[in-house]
Amino acid sequence: MCNTDLPYSPPMHIKVLPSLLAADFAALGAEAVRAESAGADALHLDIMDGHFVPNLSMGPDVVAMAKRHVNIPLSVHLMLTNPHEHITSFIDAGADSLLIHIEAECDVPEVLQRIRELGVRPGITLNPKTPPEMIYPVLDIVDEVLCMSVEPGYGGQSFEACVLLKLRNLRNQADSRGMSNLDILVDGGINAETGVQCAAQGANGLIAGTYLYGSPDMQAEISRLREEATASLSA
Ligand code: DX5
Ligand code: ZN
Repeated sequence: MCNTDLPYSPPMHIKVLPSLLAADFAALGAEAVRAESAGADALHLDIMDGHFVPNLSMGPDVVAMAKRHVNIPLSVHLMLTNPHEHITSFIDAGADSLLIHIEAECDVPEVLQRIRELGVRPGITLNPKTPPEMIYPVLDIVDEVLCMSVEPGYGGQSFEACVLLKLRNLRNQADSRGMSNLDILVDGGINAETGVQCAAQGANGLIAGTYLYGSPDMQAEISRLREEATASLSA
């Protein structure tokens, strides 16, 4: 049972990040441009190693390709068992934020610190079953928190509603630490309906693959998502 009735300070701006995983892989450059032209705040790229998650997806060359095609920030989600072995490759490729998992097999605080020292925004990600308290020890050293609302590995899955309580918990925790600028993102099964629910609980970044890339009018969907999510903040 989720209790989401606790107060919190609502974030000011809702960011919308299309996930390139749902794009047409025969035209990735054009698909990155489609997201930028549609008004995306950043482009989300999912990196999978076939070990941390069963699937394999893309590597640094795809990040470098996106960097050549668009000017919006690149949000790079590392679903890797050993992210520390790859962060310099993704930074050299042009990542603007690097999100590692708390469940990864590495010295998580050390890797986050190294990402920051290399001039990139560090972010921590947690899976649906991971309690929010697991990331409290690193909350002060990240710029972004990414809450998975599906098990990582595949696009097109159904939203898991218990992420809502986690979002509220983390927004309250950030507020209590004076971190009003902390970006709290949510990823998996996001559409107009679930995105609004997440924003109402403290998420200010909505990552959506299937919903946005599956739309013939991405611009209209991004505007709608941003407007309805923003409206939910003052409701
Ligand atoms: C899943 C990825 C997501 C994925 C979301 O492991 O982290 O970013 O692309 O896809 P949708 O929006 O289709 O659930
Ligand atoms: Zn992702």
